[in-house]
Amino acid sequence: MARFAGAWAASHGPLLVREWESVPADQKARLASAFRSLGKKLAASRAEVLIVVSPDHWSNFFLDNYPAVCIGVGAANEGPPEPWMKAFPHQSIAGHAPLGMHIVQTALQAGFEPSMSHRLKLDHGACIPLWRMELASMPALVPMLVNSIEPPMPSLSRCCQWGALLRQAIESFPGGERIGVLATGGLSHSIGEKTMGAIHEDFDRETLRLFSGPEHSLVRYLEDELPRRGNGSEEVRNWLVAHGAAGARGFELVDYLPVPAVIVGCGFAAWSA
Ligand SMILES: [Fe+2]
Repeated sequence: MARFAGAWAASHGPLLVREWESVPADQKARLASAFRSLGKKLAASRAEVLIVVSPDHWSNFFLDNYPAVCIGVGAANEGPPEPWMKAFPHQSIAGHAPLGMHIVQTALQAGFEPSMSHRLKLDHGACIPLWRMELASMPALVPMLVNSIEPPMPSLSRCCQWGALLRQAIESFPGGERIGVLATGGLSHSIGEKTMGAIHEDFDRETLRLFSGPEHSLVRYLEDELPRRGNGSEEVRNWLVAHGAAGARGFELVDYLPVPAVIVGCGFAAWSA
C-alpha cells in the first residue's frame, strides 16, 4: 500500500509575485527561506505524489457551476492561466489519474460526494508555493480544489473530515508510492471588499496556536471569527484538510509573518508523517 509522506501548508497571494520587489528585504528573505524550508522538507519526505489542496480562483469554475470539492483525475494538469504567472516554469505538470480516481471512489464509499475533473488548471494558489519551494523535481500532482472563495462553502468540520478521508485513501491505495499533502491559502487577508489589505495578526497567531489543541476548539474559534477576518481568511479550510490528513496532531510552525506589501498574513507549517 502507499504511504503518507507528510503534509505542508503555505500561504499564497498574487502580490507574492506581482509585488515581490516591493516587499522589504528582511521580509523577502524570511518568505523565501520559509518557502525553501518547506521545499526541503518535502524533498526529505521523498514524496513522489502530492495532493495539492487549494481554492480555485475562478480559473476552472464560475458561479454557473462551482463545486464544493473537486478532485483532479487527469493524467496531466495545466499550468497557471494568469498572465502574471507566465514565468512559472511548468506549462503542464504530471497528474496521477489512478490516485485521483481512488480518492473519488474512497470518498463516495464513505458518504462524501466530490466533483471530479479530467482537466484542471492549477492557478496561482497551487503554483506560487510550488514555485517558491524551489523543488529540484516536481512530484506528480493530484489537485483537490476546495471552495474557500465563494459562499456557501464546505463546513470547517467537513474540511477536517476530508483530511482524514484523504489519509484513508492514501493508505488504501495499492502500490508503494509515498504521497504527501500540500495545502495552500490563508492566513488572514481581505480581497475586493471594504477591508481590503487588512491583516489580523491576532487571529492568525491564535489560529496557528489552536492547530496544536483539540480540533473542536480550532473549529469553534474559526466559526466564530472567520466572518469578520477578511474573505481570504476562509482559505484556512485547506489547512484543515492537511491537518486532518496528518492526524490532527499539531504541526511545526516554520514561520509566520504579516506582510503588508502583499496584504497577506503569511504562514508556513509542516506536519510530519
Ligand atoms: Fe487565494
